[in-house]
Amino acid sequence: MSDIIIAIDGHSATGKSSTAKRVAKHLGYIYLDSGAMYRATTLYFLNNDIELESASQIQKALDHINIEFKKDENGLPITYLNGKNVEEEIRTMETSSRVSKVSAIKAVRVAMVKQQRKLGENKGIVMDGRDIGSVVFPDAELKIFMTASAKVRAERRQKELAEKGQNVHFNEILKNVVDRDQLDSTRKESPLIKVDDAIEIDNSTMSFEEQVNQIIDLAEAKIAALS
Ligand code: CDP
Repeated sequence: MSDIIIAIDGHSATGKSSTAKRVAKHLGYIYLDSGAMYRATTLYFLNNDIELESASQIQKALDHINIEFKKDENGLPITYLNGKNVEEEIRTMETSSRVSKVSAIKAVRVAMVKQQRKLGENKGIVMDGRDIGSVVFPDAELKIFMTASAKVRAERRQKELAEKGQNVHFNEILKNVVDRDQLDSTRKESPLIKVDDAIEIDNSTMSFEEQVNQIIDLAEAKIAALS
């Protein structure tokens, strides 16, 4: 059986990460949440008062950032920043409100993409993000572009945060989702785009199971065709 690379890109809060995790588990593939890497970098910048206008501060910070993923007791990936579990902290609204500015910086992207490509060099990986099919793995065998209406996405994100004890007003979440889409799609460096060979899935009215199954079917067909 040939292992493939599955790139899942799309708008914020479309369920890319949860879907990618399930697809990876089903196929026995590695899962990599590239957004968690940008979030962890943003957290480091916040905690160390890095000025986003200072190229030297940014480069120095990037040299001190070590991001790792370890598995919890259920086999789910936990993000570690310089040895510390930051999985919760990187998902707060404070980090969410800054991440798109940090991820628009070229030096940040160069550092992250280098690590992401290394992790995918043996294939057998599902990676989700904004530029996976366009920049990180332009030759990925399966590319998915996920979207949904902003309202549905904000509702899902609000529920997710509430489950973690973070009660955030709906309008604040909606604004964050819309603002990030705007910043991510219009930035100069690796903007979020749907590449021609990506399959678009609008999951506004789809159940989670349906969307996972659709991607698994696409992946299995691709693997069979290549084997
Ligand atoms: O989970 P959600 O869709 O809200 O976002 P995420 O995947 O955790 O990504 C957080 C932010 O990181 C995005 O809004 C982008 O600004 C940035 N990002 C990026 O620029 N490139 C990637 N490959 C992944 C994330």
